[in-house]
Amino acid sequence: MPGVERLRIQGGARLVGEVTVTGAKNSVLKLMAAALLARGRTVLHDVPDILDVRYMGELLERLGCGVESRGGTLVIDVPDEVDYAADYTLVRRLRASIIVLGPLLARCRRAQVALPGGDSIGSRGLGMHVAGLAKMGADIRVEHGYVIAEAPGGLRGNEILLDFPSVGATENLLLAATLAEGTTIIDNAAREPEIVDIAEMLSRMGAKIGGIGTSTLEIEGPASLSPVEHTVVPDRVVAGTWAIGATVTGGDVRLRNARADHLSIVLEKLTKAGADVETTHDGFAVRMDRRPRAVDIVTLPYPGFPTDLQPMMVTLAAVSEGTSMVTENLFDGRFRFVQELARLGADVETDGHHAVVRGRPTLSGAPVEATDIRAGAALVLAGLVAEGETVVSGVHHIDRGYPDMAGVLRGLGAHVEREPDDFAK
Ligand code: EPU
Repeated sequence: MPGVERLRIQGGARLVGEVTVTGAKNSVLKLMAAALLARGRTVLHDVPDILDVRYMGELLERLGCGVESRGGTLVIDVPDEVDYAADYTLVRRLRASIIVLGPLLARCRRAQVALPGGDSIGSRGLGMHVAGLAKMGADIRVEHGYVIAEAPGGLRGNEILLDFPSVGATENLLLAATLAEGTTIIDNAAREPEIVDIAEMLSRMGAKIGGIGTSTLEIEGPASLSPVEHTVVPDRVVAGTWAIGATVTGGDVRLRNARADHLSIVLEKLTKAGADVETTHDGFAVRMDRRPRAVDIVTLPYPGFPTDLQPMMVTLAAVSEGTSMVTENLFDGRFRFVQELARLGADVETDGHHAVVRGRPTLSGAPVEATDIRAGAALVLAGLVAEGETVVSGVHHIDRGYPDMAGVLRGLGAHVEREPDDFAK
């Protein structure tokens, strides 16, 4: 079981070298769900080797699909009939599995998906997914821990105005709308690069989608969809993590297969902190040769500052010159990890969705616990700059979203070992 391992990090190394970024976790999981919409073989390239992809693959297999992974390529074979139920044993491991709700409902005219529940980063509401599908004619209710949706006559397009540009609700409704009768308009839609990637794959499958990349999506259904081959958009959160890693360690990292245009606000903040950012033909490079200056950040839906990079920016702020104000607007629990960062000596005071981080010249190594993917990445970056040894347990959280983090770090010159966690419960 991968859960009982930890990372042992010797602080003090600068990250120097190159990293080739693979496809985005938060796109590929949805592209895998999108495959359910069409019978036949969907082929995805540049698929990251991470636990969440394995979990979503197992979910698709339980629904009756064939799933085969060859290197960075994933082949999903969708049969004529798929099962319509995803139970709690699968959903509890992968909250993103709620994304099969829309495609299953659209294809099978009914779906039953276990409620994911909250986790260490927050409460994870689903109200907009449910309200949107109901507006498209589904009879939808929550019973015995399941979202149960039925649309015996098929879904019908409608105008849906989201209260907030939710990534998951936009995706679920977009996927469902491709097979709905008539026009669906999703207003106040999220427009993250991963949503653009999904919409582009759906278009190539035969869906008619207008407004891709804007906050109003217009879907003309029902489309007759056929499976395609698609390369997943590069992971901007992984690229951003290494960009912040270069900045916080005074390093020099070149990111290949990375999209600087998907990280505009992040790279602007790193430049303000003192880093030198240069775009290259296949990505960008980040160099730093001074102590970082404090910068303030406010997380917001894209193109605002991504919540998934907020924890790593708190690490950066913890060793910057000056005081940073960090405001988290997406997840109510995303500051929980600062208690772990405090064990390394960080001076962070939180009040609701604000954190005041007073930079210190250095941190000091200690054992800490990763509580989610991004908290784990933030603690690893902190361990790289801390004096002495930091041991980060709960590595399985990091494995959910970062392919071979220890190997990548060693390739960049850091002293990081993966080892069994003798104290794991
Ligand atoms: N929300 C509601 N009701 C809804 C939908 C969302 O209250 O119907 C709330 C959520 O509870 C949350 C906030 O709105 O507090 C944002 O939720 P959103 O739907 O935008 O996010 P998500 O689809 O649950 C995805 C990513 C997250 C990423 C967010 C924001 C995946 C699998 N997850 O989550 O990624 O932080 O968008 O960009 O795509 C991660 O990779 O570590 C991660 C958490």
